[in-house]
Amino acid sequence: MTESTLIKGADIVGRGRADVLVREGRIAEIGTPSAAGAAVVDADGLVLLPGLVDLHTHLREPGREDAETVYTGTRAAAKGGYTAVCAMANSYPVADTAGVVEQVAALGRAAGYADVQPIGAVSVGLGGERLAEIGAMADSAAKVRMFSDDGHCVADARLMRRALEYVKTFDGRIAQHAEEPRLTEGAQMNEGAVSAELGLPGWPAVAEEAIIARDVLLAEHVGARIHFCHVSTARSVEIIREAKDRGVAVTAEVCPHHLLLTDARAHTYDPVYKVNPPLRGDGDVAALRAALAEGVVDAVATDHAPHAPQDKDCEWSAARPGMLGLETALSITVAALGGPESVDWDLVAERTSRTPARIAALAAHGRDPEPGLEANFTLVDPSRSWTVVPSELASLSQNTPYAGMELPVTIQATFLRGRATVLDGKLAETAEENQ
Ligand code: DOR
Ligand code: ZN
Repeated sequence: MTESTLIKGADIVGRGRADVLVREGRIAEIGTPSAAGAAVVDADGLVLLPGLVDLHTHLREPGREDAETVYTGTRAAAKGGYTAVCAMANSYPVADTAGVVEQVAALGRAAGYADVQPIGAVSVGLGGERLAEIGAMADSAAKVRMFSDDGHCVADARLMRRALEYVKTFDGRIAQHAEEPRLTEGAQMNEGAVSAELGLPGWPAVAEEAIIARDVLLAEHVGARIHFCHVSTARSVEIIREAKDRGVAVTAEVCPHHLLLTDARAHTYDPVYKVNPPLRGDGDVAALRAALAEGVVDAVATDHAPHAPQDKDCEWSAARPGMLGLETALSITVAALGGPESVDWDLVAERTSRTPARIAALAAHGRDPEPGLEANFTLVDPSRSWTVVPSELASLSQNTPYAGMELPVTIQATFLRGRATVLDGKLAETAEENQ
């Protein structure tokens, strides 16, 4: 790869307006470089963010290629401004061995749209009984640093303790899907006034909060890192705040849908709004937004959960939980942090790129542009809104809860190691273009 690209006049977050010269996949110069022969990208009026990093993506491959593949999922990621995604382990087979995590990473490289960092399972088959081959996955070519049974909670305290002890030896982390299973048996939606009104079995907030409180104590006892997936309640935020104040190595993510939507959506009985943990109440949404702004919640993560039509276009109780997230996350984050006119873009970069890259231990991502670094960044048009049309999304599935909604900002371009995976809002069409 020899060609160079000059990005002209972007508003670089944390630095201000400048030109960026990209050569051979890296940032060559920032300022007013002269670049004869370089392809020019006019970035006047665009915000340049470090490429977004998603801590929580369900790519569905291997096993559910009817819902998403690594190829289609990473195309959706690139369109959403992401240069790296962490692939959750609940595939078929489960990513609980070195072989599966290496396969997923290789599929990501072959597609070329975003770096794919596999997350390894904590337990064999997500069964919650025996530890998976954590060491073999960490030592594998996929270099797994984060482990999660997401979709399921590591409910057994003894197993969680052992997992924390194990990952501590190589500075790994456990990402917990906090859901006390006995408290959510049969649950269909948030437990509250709306579930009572609709007569649907409720998923109480305490089922999340009790596990978070327990795991804070276990992580503290072991001296290991714990990360909480998709935190959804005001009380969870308070438990995490208290843990951080005491110096426990805890981090947490929030999903865009929990920052925008409430359980009132269940009135529609449209299963597109069914998700786990469920949409909560107004007070939770407000607390999560404040916690994200403040940093008690460290990162935005999509929990991008594509589902095939037969798993979603059915009655509420039969539908699988989960919704798409990659292509809409940045807009919703901007909306939740004050809207495009008043949002602090440095804060956006912190929560969607720098901090998630740190949590996932991805050294080449989440870095503000500097000469010599890999050219992984995103150009956002802060004044161009767009309307979500499910059939126009890059994901193979269409289960977005934002259909028809106007979202405030547009991804104009995404660069992965100097290559435009997205340019003028359009995906590069062949994988070879990305190699
Ligand atoms: O809504 C969800 N969907 N929550 C999860 O934890 C798993 C995910 C999925 O895999 O579909
Ligand atoms: Zn989960």
